[in-house]
Amino acid sequence: MSVRDSDVCSYALTSGPDRQDNDVRQTVKTEANVNGVVIYESMFGNTRDIALAIAEGLASHLDVRAFEVGEAPHVFDHPDVIVIGGPTHAFSMSRSSTRESAKDETDEPLVSPTGIREWIASADLEDRQACATFDTKVPKPKLPGSAAASAARKLKKHHCSIVARPETFWVDDMTGPLLDGECERARRWGEELAAAVSARASAH
Ligand SMILES: Cc1cc2nc3c(=O)[nH]c(=O)nc-3n(C[C@H](O)[C@H](O)[C@H](O)COP(=O)(O)O)c2cc1C
Repeated sequence: MSVRDSDVCSYALTSGPDRQDNDVRQTVKTEANVNGVVIYESMFGNTRDIALAIAEGLASHLDVRAFEVGEAPHVFDHPDVIVIGGPTHAFSMSRSSTRESAKDETDEPLVSPTGIREWIASADLEDRQACATFDTKVPKPKLPGSAAASAARKLKKHHCSIVARPETFWVDDMTGPLLDGECERARRWGEELAAAVSARASAH
C-alpha cells in the first residue's frame, strides 16, 4: 500500500503549500483504490508533521492521500476512513479569530488559511462514514478541551461513525516543536487505525 507523492518529514504530502501541481480533487473522486484519507489543518507545521506520520502508518494497510484542509475535497468516494486533525485553539477547533491570533506568533506564513471546523461544516459526508480525529496541544499549562474531541462531536452530528478515540499529540510550546517521539507515536496510531478499519471493511 502507498502514500502518494512523498514530501516533507519523509512522509506523504499530496496537497498544501508543498504539493505537486496536480488536480487532487479530480483524482480522489475517480480513484476507487484510495481508501484512506487524511485531512489536516496546521498553523506552524506541527499538526502537518503529525498528519503525515499518521498517513505513513495508515499506508501499512491502505492506499492513502493526505490533504491540507484548504485544498481538501468536500466529497469522497466511500473511503474506508477519513482522519481529520488540527491544532487545539481556545479549548476547541480553531476559528478565524484564533487563526488571526496565530499569525502574531510567527514571521512565517501559516500553513492553513482555513480550518477543520469549516471543512466539517461544508463537507458532504456519507451516513456512517468511518472517521477518526486527532489534534495537537501544549502540555503546559494543562488546559481542558481538545480540537479532536470537538471535531468528533461535530462529525457524529453529521452521522459519521467515530472509529477510534480522539487522540492528542503534544507540542513543547505554542509554535512547536513536537515533543520527542510524537511522530513515531502518530505513525503507530495510524497503523493501528488502519488495521482496525481494514478489518471493519472486510466484515461489511
Ligand atoms: C490562538 C491559539 C490558541 C491556543 N489555545 C490552546 C488551548 O486552548 N490549549 C492548548 O493546549 N493549546 C493551545 N494552543 C497551542 C496550540 O495547540 C499549538 O500552537 C498547536 O498545537 C501547534 O500546532 P500547529 O503548528 O499545527 O499549528 C493555542 C494556540 C494558539 C495560536
